[in-house]
Amino acid sequence: MDADLTGKKILLCVSGSISAYKAADLASHLGKTGAVLHVVMTHAATGFIAPATFRALTRNPVLTDVFDEPISDRIAHIDLAQSADLVIVAPASADLLAKMAHGIADDIVTTCLLAVPQKTPLLVAPAMNTVMWEHPATTANLVTLKARGVEVIEPGSGLLACQDVGIGKLADVGEIVEAITKCLCVPQDFEGIGILITAGATREPLDPVRFLSNRSSGKMGFALAESAARRGAKVLVIAGFTTAVPPPGVTLVRAETAEKMKSLCLSWRRKFDVFIGAAAVSDYAPAEISEQKIKKRGDTENEITLRLVKTPDVLAAIAAQKQEGQFVVGFAAETENLLSNAQDKLRSKGLDMIVANDVTAEGAGFDTDTNIVTFLFPQDEPQSEPQFKSQPLPKMSKKEVADEILNAIRSRIHHDL
Ligand code: C5P
Repeated sequence: MDADLTGKKILLCVSGSISAYKAADLASHLGKTGAVLHVVMTHAATGFIAPATFRALTRNPVLTDVFDEPISDRIAHIDLAQSADLVIVAPASADLLAKMAHGIADDIVTTCLLAVPQKTPLLVAPAMNTVMWEHPATTANLVTLKARGVEVIEPGSGLLACQDVGIGKLADVGEIVEAITKCLCVPQDFEGIGILITAGATREPLDPVRFLSNRSSGKMGFALAESAARRGAKVLVIAGFTTAVPPPGVTLVRAETAEKMKSLCLSWRRKFDVFIGAAAVSDYAPAEISEQKIKKRGDTENEITLRLVKTPDVLAAIAAQKQEGQFVVGFAAETENLLSNAQDKLRSKGLDMIVANDVTAEGAGFDTDTNIVTFLFPQDEPQSEPQFKSQPLPKMSKKEVADEILNAIRSRIHHDL
């Protein structure tokens, strides 16, 4: 049965791939959900399927040229991009992905895409020949788009129109409709809930040009922030250094050092129901920060010694000052004895939940898009054996891990909607 998307405005962008004809089937399915559908097509797409097909399926004008202006006093590409609740590019050709990645706006489709606000979900369903799909240029363009928050509905494998067998078939229409539905029907189960998240790596300066830091990218913390905001939470992220793109709809404050992160978190702590410490905070910082760049010494001195001092533990400080009803979550990134180390942190820092992951495992840890985690919670009865409850999860994307973390939190906090 088709989902109910009554009144949701969807912009369908069709580009020039042989599978453009399947976009008509997609339009037909979306029409049955009650969604209001508008279609824009590249010139190449019109070589595969006629605009009249989409006009009949959507009962709306179909734009194929940037100068098509169905309403005289409105700028069509701005209107379409900004009024959409969701934008889907299906099929997305290699050329269109390249243009999107580089911000090119030279036709109606790419011009609309550049005008889509950051907060609007943007999905792409690529379809192309296997060699084009596997080309380093396409791979790099997809990395760029994913980092910007674009959701990629991966193509399938099989016999392609060019008679090659391999990856590159447009995903099934059912799968595309499901991805769209999932994006548009996000439960607002965090409405009215405040979440404070730390993310990224702190940098502890040694001198004006050097610092101690770690490999954290900030992807996990940002995925949590994005997911929480989409589910209705009011989100404040206090982030150290990150390579990930900050999500829309959240307030972001930068904190370079552990000390700064702690003082910001403590100053905001009363305003939040949930605290998630996803930052990789340096455990030690240089005892002295040199005002000038430390110079290489003469030929006789081959060693220098750095004296390090412990940094404040942000998470433990928040947990120690926890107020009635607040829920505190930490992360344990481990390279050995995963569960026993995570259990020790859960207990010693006084947490309500810890997310344990072995950073040496394939597809887990720093700067990957996936993670393999186990949740640990204290037992309700302190005397129970074992003293914690564990919930292992399979390998999944950091976005999915973020949703699972939020599901676990939501089922444990007492906040009526
Ligand atoms: O003790 P450890 O660093 O392994 O604990 C990891 C957890 O503690 C993470 O949630 C991290 O954000 C938090 N942490 C912190 N402040 C520190 C060290 C770790 O908030 N100085």
